[in-house]
Amino acid sequence: MPLYTKSETSFKSCMPSHEILSGYVDNSVFNKLFPRQFQHCCGNLSLTNDLQNVFNELSLDQKIQLILRKWQQEKPSSFQDCYPKGIFQHCQKIGEGIYGEVFLYKNANGGTTVLKIIPIEGDQIVNGEAQKKFEEILSETIIALELSNLRANKKNYTDAFIEVQNLRYIYGRYPEELLELWKLYDENRGSENDFPDLFTDEQLYIVLETGYGGSDLESFIFDDASQVLSMFKQIACAMAVAEVELCFEHRDLHWGNILISHVPLDKEIFFVLNGQEIAVPSCGIKVSIIDFTFSRISKNGLDICNDLGKDCAIFTGRGDYQFEIYRLMQKKNGNEWHHFDPYSNILWLSYVLEKTITSLHFKNERTKLHKKSMNKLKELNLDILGYDSTRELVLSLFDKNFL
Ligand SMILES: Nc1ncnc2c1ncn2[C@@H]1O[C@H](COP(=O)(O)OP(=O)(O)OP(=O)(O)O)[C@@H](O)[C@H]1O
Ligand SMILES: [Mg+2]
Repeated sequence: MPLYTKSETSFKSCMPSHEILSGYVDNSVFNKLFPRQFQHCCGNLSLTNDLQNVFNELSLDQKIQLILRKWQQEKPSSFQDCYPKGIFQHCQKIGEGIYGEVFLYKNANGGTTVLKIIPIEGDQIVNGEAQKKFEEILSETIIALELSNLRANKKNYTDAFIEVQNLRYIYGRYPEELLELWKLYDENRGSENDFPDLFTDEQLYIVLETGYGGSDLESFIFDDASQVLSMFKQIACAMAVAEVELCFEHRDLHWGNILISHVPLDKEIFFVLNGQEIAVPSCGIKVSIIDFTFSRISKNGLDICNDLGKDCAIFTGRGDYQFEIYRLMQKKNGNEWHHFDPYSNILWLSYVLEKTITSLHFKNERTKLHKKSMNKLKELNLDILGYDSTRELVLSLFDKNFL
């Protein structure tokens, strides 16, 4: 989408924040989490009355791009300043994606932090792809922050979206310690990514710091299908809560983006959907949902998303139901990615059910409980595509005492 082209400089002399991300800067975790430079930028953006109407006509993309341009005028911190030497002593690489490397380390308070390091704005091709632009990353980070913030929401509550701890804007070569950890991962598990010593002193990155969510669904070994049933219920409830509060669509809920961790067997996982409490028995596992690169939300009347229609490669994959889902979403929304169409969440739940029935790993498949739970999952799979949204699905399951 082209950026606003009329006298852009006129915006420079004008001011504040509230109308631009109307109410967003005040009410969200932004104030707490964003680097000082960003707050400064937002604080310096404002509108005179004359420009108000013009600004209201700008799309969210355009508004954010204006903010980002100011942000870009500020200097990022160096890798070394953000992460002083020695900090990566208790660190390991735990994952990777086309857009970034993922490391886990023990932070100063003894807690664990996951770093998703995403190179941006550079000309070098990385992992076979052009680097992301600031604004593309901003939609992912705003969405991650808003979903993380649902753990502080009373009317629509969930803590199933990964907790965002911090966001950093940095530059420089990859630290030697991380390069060593990268090699170790490559030796043990094999990497499909390029060795990150290719980055120069000028390279920019966004680092998303989150909590640790556990192993991804592809590699997790379940005790039996009762745990998978709990996983399905947790995902459905989380999606329904985010649909209602934020008009959320994940749009990429493949099994690398669903994380599972162990919790005490008798723990219940709580959700609040439109004021209604739902307690899902954990059966010893807890779900965390990650990776909002393709996602969309609405917040204060603003639609936040990436236009997936611009990237044709997304729709040409073959060989797994995952790739079919991208095409089915496109068919359903007519390649219009700004609007909210919660059916995409239903499509991804049908993908999750297909994976649970055909491809997951279990310690014990012989028990009655396993068979009974698997039958329930198969039953769900029969009519999942008949629902319009996960909200509708969850309310229906709740009415049937299934939740
Ligand atoms: N908070 C976390 N806790 C545990 N593991 C994580 C976390 N974040 C990411 N990972 C691991 O790193 C992998 C890649 O992360 P992520 O999906 O966010 O990156 P990506 O580049 O967007 O991936 P892709 O485009 O392939 O989906 C995940 O599949 C997961 O295995
Ligand atoms: Mg991913």
